[in-house]
Amino acid sequence: MKNEVLITSIIKDFNKKIFVSGDKSISIRCVLLASQAIGKSKIYNLLESEDVMCALKCIKKLGINYKKNTNYYEIEGLGLEGYKTERNIKLDAGNSGTLARLILGLLVNSRHKIKISGDKSLSKRDFSRVTEPLKEFGVQITSKKKMLPVEIAGSNFLRPIKYIEKLGSAQCKSSVMLAAIKTPGITKIKALKSRNHTELFFRNLKIPINIVSNRKYDFIDIEGQYNFAGFTYKVPGDISSASFLLVLTLLSRNSKLLIKGVNINKSRLGIVKILNRMNANIILKNKKIYKGEAISDILVNSKKNLKAIKCPASLNSTAIDEFLVIFLVAAKAKGISTFKNLGELNKKESPRLEIGISFLKKIGIKVVRKGNDIKIYGNPSLSLSGNYTVKNFKKDHRVFMTSCIAALTLGGNWNIKDKDSVNTSFPEFFKIINQLGAKIY
Ligand code: S3P
Repeated sequence: MKNEVLITSIIKDFNKKIFVSGDKSISIRCVLLASQAIGKSKIYNLLESEDVMCALKCIKKLGINYKKNTNYYEIEGLGLEGYKTERNIKLDAGNSGTLARLILGLLVNSRHKIKISGDKSLSKRDFSRVTEPLKEFGVQITSKKKMLPVEIAGSNFLRPIKYIEKLGSAQCKSSVMLAAIKTPGITKIKALKSRNHTELFFRNLKIPINIVSNRKYDFIDIEGQYNFAGFTYKVPGDISSASFLLVLTLLSRNSKLLIKGVNINKSRLGIVKILNRMNANIILKNKKIYKGEAISDILVNSKKNLKAIKCPASLNSTAIDEFLVIFLVAAKAKGISTFKNLGELNKKESPRLEIGISFLKKIGIKVVRKGNDIKIYGNPSLSLSGNYTVKNFKKDHRVFMTSCIAALTLGGNWNIKDKDSVNTSFPEFFKIINQLGAKIY
């Protein structure tokens, strides 16, 4: 069967209640932290996507056993010194920047050299953003042209560092945080705000962490070398996966969707804030807190009179994975939307700023770019009838899913390549979309 989908009609009205797959960021953190705990951890609703399966394979290679039970994964950690590294171990992070960057942090005390590689897309991404601060701990890291494969040789004489994270990258911040738990003394981090799942995990696991925050930065102190016990965790739904369904509902004609049990951590909630500022009426219901993470059901209805947004750059990190679908909403909104300082989008699985702009142009939307700022000239009566092919050269899961949402809401005849890419983050994408009435296989 060809690795593509053909979509030739828009989705019919729907009114449904669904769950989305488990959160990718939290799932990867669960696997990595469980691998460092002392004793068994039980992880329910772990996202069974390729990125997370790669994380499980990596810890297995490092001597950590896990098994899948009926509805949970059991991981048997051996503590902070517990990775059994042999000479010449090679870890494959697949497509996952989060896994590669976070696990590097955990390897600062490895006894032997370990090589980390990734797929074609990951091998083109910058790793100096994590290898430079990690070297400060006193480890040796080598790479060619700042990219994967990277080789790390850990140290027995780690020293705590002072690190300023200026990109708003949770991956960089978390990589250093994970190295800090291996290191004697207090590591001090000043980080531009970004998702804070690692911080919440540390608090839960009673890893000594102190955080002082202002509007822009978090000042994080971590005291290292405290072992922690195995834990139980139920992973909430992924708001990044939910975003595709929010936009599908919003842009369809007369539909309603309730997505149950989604992680609505403030540092991830940009999609809801941005869409509501564009006149959507997305409602968070049944809010609760689970181990520091906010969780709720999300209710969304179709909306006709969407309006343009002047999106403040301060929201960028809270919606960093959602901009492609946000651009789609801007294309249908009345007025000119502006987005600023989106350079980090080009550092993802594919250069998403470039790709987003050419996608909008392909569907007849005017876009003006100045550096990393863009203006999108919305057209509320946008409706397509031509033939569209999306080549998706970098096999980017979010490019694929955004294209499907465009096809299902705007019309036209679409041939969208690389359908397997959904397995990276949202393996249930087709099942759910078809549950809502689409017929994509
Ligand atoms: C992630 C952080 C984000 C995000 C990625 C997952 C994480 O990357 O794009 O999909 O789990 O920490 P950056 O922190 O590099 O922006």
